[in-house]
Amino acid sequence: MENLFIDISEKKVFEVEKIRKDFPILSRLIHGKNLVYFDNAATTQKPRQVIDSIQNYYVNLNSNIHRGVHYLSEAATKEYECTRKIIQNFINAKHLEEIIYTRGTTESINLVASSYGFANFKKDDEILISAMEHHSNIVPWQIICQHTGAKLKVIPMNDDGEIILEEFDNMLNEKTKFVSVVHVSNSLGTINPIKYIIDKAHNFNIPVMVDAAQSIQHLKIDVQQLDCDFLAFSGHKIYGPTGIGILYGKKKYLIEMPPYQGGGDMIMSVSFEKTIYNELPYKFEAGTPNIAGVIGLGVAIRYINNIGIEAINNFENELLSYATNLLSDMKGLKIIGTAKDKTSVISFIIDNAHPHDVGTILDRDGVAVRTGHHCTEPVMRRFNIPATTRASFSFYNTFYEIDVLAKSLKKVINLFN
Ligand code: ALA
Repeated sequence: MENLFIDISEKKVFEVEKIRKDFPILSRLIHGKNLVYFDNAATTQKPRQVIDSIQNYYVNLNSNIHRGVHYLSEAATKEYECTRKIIQNFINAKHLEEIIYTRGTTESINLVASSYGFANFKKDDEILISAMEHHSNIVPWQIICQHTGAKLKVIPMNDDGEIILEEFDNMLNEKTKFVSVVHVSNSLGTINPIKYIIDKAHNFNIPVMVDAAQSIQHLKIDVQQLDCDFLAFSGHKIYGPTGIGILYGKKKYLIEMPPYQGGGDMIMSVSFEKTIYNELPYKFEAGTPNIAGVIGLGVAIRYINNIGIEAINNFENELLSYATNLLSDMKGLKIIGTAKDKTSVISFIIDNAHPHDVGTILDRDGVAVRTGHHCTEPVMRRFNIPATTRASFSFYNTFYEIDVLAKSLKKVINLFN
């Protein structure tokens, strides 16, 4: 990954063509056209380095971790634990044992809702989430509320898709027991002011969980600087494999929380009379984990570190501005989600055209976008629409690809109007 940048008049130029060569899938033809992959918010593509590391695990290291004294088990354990350190450094967690492996953002949130919620929530307590949550940050809290009698409260958003902070301020009170809020909206692209939210909640001693599923791949995240109490993200959204995710939690909470699942590896000793749980982080890691996934995730984070998350963010912002300008000029197309702070996501609707038809026509031109409610049905209801078409950009996308999208969209607009 040397020489990723070249210097031109002191302005760093992002070497996107060179980066694209690391992603084998980007050279595929779809329906005879070059693939234009704009469904990065659903899942990101994997660089060859990540794919190779998964293959290498199965070819050269395959064995179970934490369980064997033989060479392979020790080597696999070392690789597996090495990722934990990489993640700790990546998000600047204070303690290594604050990094818990899960299946993804969804499991991380379910873990906290279930373990922390059962131990702490009671009737009429209030749990705050925002109006732009993904279903994964709604349903786990609804489940725990049903069991405990706590109430779920929703912080509203404005017509641009921004949280109304005055409303949030007014909702905090002595009954509020937890705040769980998305950092970046998957369907609107809004970047929420989570530092403000965390600080306000902490004035009431309320813990805050940050859903970083759509921010970890775009923004620099420092959990100590943010001072969030929990943070969740998925490996597959940050160029790693599916089925692996991270829960960060402050040690003071994780120590007190009961296990989420029981099984092997999460115990110190078991008898029929009494089981003693393992120490952190293993207390929350029952059963044989996704070892190849963990190793692949470590390689993905190293890959991102080599390019630099700030450089990635800068380039993606350029792609976003370019696309926003092009799409805003199109008559018959309306962008949904016009917050001042956004990541590289554009959701839109086209007059007289259902998003599924838009997506199908774009697909024939090789352009992959997501259509539907994006697992955020309440967001669609807020904007009075059934669905949107969503184009989400990554640092391996190009301005030329955005031109291809725009050309294909013009075709759609002409067809339906
Ligand atoms: N959360 C993913 C998305 O936004 C699946 O598409």
